[in-house]
Amino acid sequence: MLVDIHNHILPGLDDGPKSIEEALLLATDAVENGITHIIATPHHHDGKYMNASSVVEEAVFNFNKELYERSIPLEILPGQETHIYNSLISDLNKDLLTLANSGKYILIELPINHIPTYTFDILFQIQLKGYIPIIVHPERNMVFRKDKQKLYDIVNKGSLVQVTASSLIGVNGRAIKRYIKYLVKHNIVHFISSDSHHHIKRPFLLKAAYQYVREKFSEGLVSYYSENAKHVINGTSFQPKRPISFKKGRD
Ligand SMILES: [Fe+2]
Repeated sequence: MLVDIHNHILPGLDDGPKSIEEALLLATDAVENGITHIIATPHHHDGKYMNASSVVEEAVFNFNKELYERSIPLEILPGQETHIYNSLISDLNKDLLTLANSGKYILIELPINHIPTYTFDILFQIQLKGYIPIIVHPERNMVFRKDKQKLYDIVNKGSLVQVTASSLIGVNGRAIKRYIKYLVKHNIVHFISSDSHHHIKRPFLLKAAYQYVREKFSEGLVSYYSENAKHVINGTSFQPKRPISFKKGRD
């Protein structure tokens, strides 16, 4: 069982596949990467796309049917990549989905050029309601890149972090790759996911990313990341590795 917790495989909902044919090509790419379960996470509330829970549920049902009819051995589960917004808390249990309907984990995207002032408060409120926020691709945020300690602080307060497979293996540049290596070494990373959008332009690359972790870090870390993703699908808790501060004399 290999789980991808962040991708845009559902056709016609966002900047992922434009047609069912494109989505099926992406599904084939997932299978070639050894993936068995995909939590589909279309953009939601990002200023461009709105994909409330009912829209995603219906699209997942339809796409699973297509996969079944073509004997593609892949199961899709519902999710969202929700861009942080001021009134997010009031939409929990309404328009917002927990990943795979786990009742536990929620993907949260931040802007790329700043961190809104209400971010800490919203992450805290999400946790007070019994959910665990997963911050997606912090490597794309300018503030996190400049100040790793800010991300440490968020993780230290109970949020989790997902980095993108392509960034880890250097597709998005050496600086970003190096940045993620720091995060990995400081136990700030909990998941590696594809964030795939297109079978050629933004494919899964999960196999290559896990292979990279195996070679540069350890087999144990590969298990840690893949087991964590299974916990998301099952809605079960796990004990994250203790984050290591970037400030000297503190941990
Ligand atoms: Fe995404």
